[in-house]
Amino acid sequence: MPVVMPIYGTRPEAIKMAPIVAALKESNALDCFVTVTGQHRSMLDQVNNLFGIEPDYDLNIFEPGQSLNGILARTIDGLDKLFNVNRPDAVIVQGDTTTSTAAAMAAFYHGIPVVHLEAGLRSGNPLSPFPEEGNRKITSQIASLHLAPTEGSRQNLLAANILPEDIVVTGNTVIDALLATVEKNVPFADPELEKLSASGRRVLLVTTHRRENQGEGMRGIGRALARIARAEPDLTIVLPVHSNPVVRRAVLPYLEELGNVLVTEPLEYGEFTRLLSLAHIVLTDSGGVQEEAPSLGVPVLVMRENTERPEAVEAGVVKLIGVDEDRIVREVDRLLHDRELYSSMSEAMNPYGDGSAAERSVLAVTTLLHAHNKRIAQSR
Ligand code: UD1
Ligand code: UDP
Repeated sequence: MPVVMPIYGTRPEAIKMAPIVAALKESNALDCFVTVTGQHRSMLDQVNNLFGIEPDYDLNIFEPGQSLNGILARTIDGLDKLFNVNRPDAVIVQGDTTTSTAAAMAAFYHGIPVVHLEAGLRSGNPLSPFPEEGNRKITSQIASLHLAPTEGSRQNLLAANILPEDIVVTGNTVIDALLATVEKNVPFADPELEKLSASGRRVLLVTTHRRENQGEGMRGIGRALARIARAEPDLTIVLPVHSNPVVRRAVLPYLEELGNVLVTEPLEYGEFTRLLSLAHIVLTDSGGVQEEAPSLGVPVLVMRENTERPEAVEAGVVKLIGVDEDRIVREVDRLLHDRELYSSMSEAMNPYGDGSAAERSVLAVTTLLHAHNKRIAQSR
């Protein structure tokens, strides 16, 4: 039976790959083994524990303050050694992280077909998001199968001269993970969050980590949050803060001693999805959160100048607002007080998937590998 190796390294890749790992374990047509790079450490392990995934191989590349080239070099070196002793028939990489592109390159150099999950997203600006836009374009050039979440992402791939027969529109597996997790309605480990959920207070849920927002952009986010907290005593701002110390140093100093701001460690995915479902508004620069919130009918303000996820923006439930401090304060204020606007932005919709993306993806991988093996057999 063909053997497939999903590989991932960061929190969002783990969340989006978990439904694929589950579907591969159930498949009668494919075997699999799971490899993680460990680009993220605690945030990756948190997701694997939740989904009960014990990786077969862990390259353990994490270093505090790691550089992009360090992540790339350690991933390629680790996989080079692994492929010499355990060579899969295909690898599956997810999205646009440096783990993802490094793994695609390592497999490509070994002549192993690359399956790209969440293929075809494009912002059109190589510096935003950085380095993700470059990463995903590189992976597109060397992948054998492109699993596009939406028709729009399929069109982007066609515009990049990818052959139509190598693209399958599957939906995004993040919706599979979200729908399966949010219904569990897990308790919060932090009693403050449990108390908040029982209080019925309005919650502004905030996440930030993008590299291009680090520095003055993120300090502006911190100042904007402090101004919103002071102006809106009936609102609670919850910030599950990214593990990155650069993010913490930029944002947290502005939020000290504000009674209606709750800063937490990164939340376990079950808790985060519950908080997302309780939130009144989401303010974020995250890719995954932009995809999840529309399914739960929660309006999203995106602290970026552009997005590679235009579907929910076009539907009117996500708005791009950039990182200017005054603009963030203004846009949150408007959404809090303009009822008509709020109701138009809180329509639940699923532009990114219906919960069956993993099933479609595994079917597409099975078809690819059977065709591939047939070609190899014929050429012998
Ligand atoms: C990475 C991805 C980004 C993705 C994000 C999700 C790249 C280039 N970037 O960005 O696409 O959106 O993850 O969160 O691949 N850290 C810890 N523990 C952890 C994780 C991170 O301490 O579990 C700290 C470390 O100091 C690390 C820093 O966060 O150096 C940055 O992590 P890194 O993976 O290099 O980049 P991100 O900015 O998190
Ligand atoms: N998430 C989580 N706990 C948190 C914050 C986010 O589990 O405290 C989840 C969120 O639901 C989404 C993913 O992490 O699925 C997004 O990760 P991140 O924002 O780090 O990366 P991006 O999606 O921007 O690449």
